[in-house]
Amino acid sequence: MTVRPARKAEVLATHTTALFAAALARAVTLLQAGEVVALPTETVYGLAANALDARAVRRIFEAKGRPAHNPIIVHVASLNLAQRCVRHWPEQAARLAAAFWPGPLTLVLPRADIIPDIVAAGGSTVGVRWPNHPFTRAVIRDCGFPLAAPSANRSFEVSPTTAEHVLQTLGDRIPLVIDGGPTSVGIESTVLDLSLPTPQLLRPGMVSLAAIRTICGDCAGPELDSAPNVANLPRQSQNQQALRSPGLLSRHYAPRANLIVCSWPDSPALKSQITNLRFEVQEVHVLAHTVLPSIPGLGRVCVMPRDPALYARGLYAELHRCDEMGARLILVETPPPTADWLAIADRLRRAAHSQEPPKNP
Ligand code: TXA
Ligand code: MG
Repeated sequence: MTVRPARKAEVLATHTTALFAAALARAVTLLQAGEVVALPTETVYGLAANALDARAVRRIFEAKGRPAHNPIIVHVASLNLAQRCVRHWPEQAARLAAAFWPGPLTLVLPRADIIPDIVAAGGSTVGVRWPNHPFTRAVIRDCGFPLAAPSANRSFEVSPTTAEHVLQTLGDRIPLVIDGGPTSVGIESTVLDLSLPTPQLLRPGMVSLAAIRTICGDCAGPELDSAPNVANLPRQSQNQQALRSPGLLSRHYAPRANLIVCSWPDSPALKSQITNLRFEVQEVHVLAHTVLPSIPGLGRVCVMPRDPALYARGLYAELHRCDEMGARLILVETPPPTADWLAIADRLRRAAHSQEPPKNP
């Protein structure tokens, strides 16, 4: 029997003015002392530390079990602070920031000397984002320094969208989790590389390629545009992208259960797919948004929204719930092959890719 170590994390709520102020003071004190704190953002919860303090950032890598080659996004709460983190602040960055900040867009730019090597994984660039969550904006403002913050989960697992998700995996490794409620966007930010002659989309998110192109014209990612179902991306292209941004490696964002993205015309067809995969129906959870299965004994059927923004908001919470309920196989109905579902298709592909082909022993 494995005994889980006791949770040491303090959890502070923020839903009244007094609670908000007390949580803010505690978070700022810990961050100023070089500690890590889990904070809400509008995308997913982040595990934050002073981005200018290499020792503090090392604690993030330790708590997450994060590979040292994966750089961390730096969070700011003003244009002035963003500009201090980078060597150049091009016109394109100014236009994109005006359009999308605060919000779920990370800009990769040449790194300023104040950003330690460990944040950039030794590289010459840094990812910068101004998140749109009132609590974390207040923390950054009061700290006066930028916060390095990856998603607040153990590496390779599904990102947390509630404080409870953070507690489940990091509760025994970090001193403080701030509960800012469920996140509103629900999947990680769009990552856009502006350090190249032509901007390049490194990670799709809910700030779409089309929206980016209206602001800065040219932006590489045509293979994503013409084949919005990124499962169709050629391997070579996937690998090239992974080298530029290790979070794009195929093993990422995975629930414990096996996950398959597939379609079914009706319930009998789905039932025979489950039988062919040699799973018992009660071990199987289904996330469906158009063809809702009616199969007696299914572990769970989750009716997902047909609107991509609402789907993204709920997706990770559903994956966490499947794991909590002991699902062995998650069948997710294939999302529509359109650009507004691109980021969702991307995350599902990673969640599915990271596992061995599922087969029940
Ligand atoms: O929404 C988000 O981006 C959340 C919240 C907390 O802000 N953060 C997040 O961080 O998802 P993380 O570390 O889980 O994912 C950051 C991604 C990784 O794929 C990383 O490789 C990439 O951004 N990244 C960070 N800095 C980079 C850089 N300088 N160059 C290229 N990719 C970078
Ligand atoms: Mg992450």
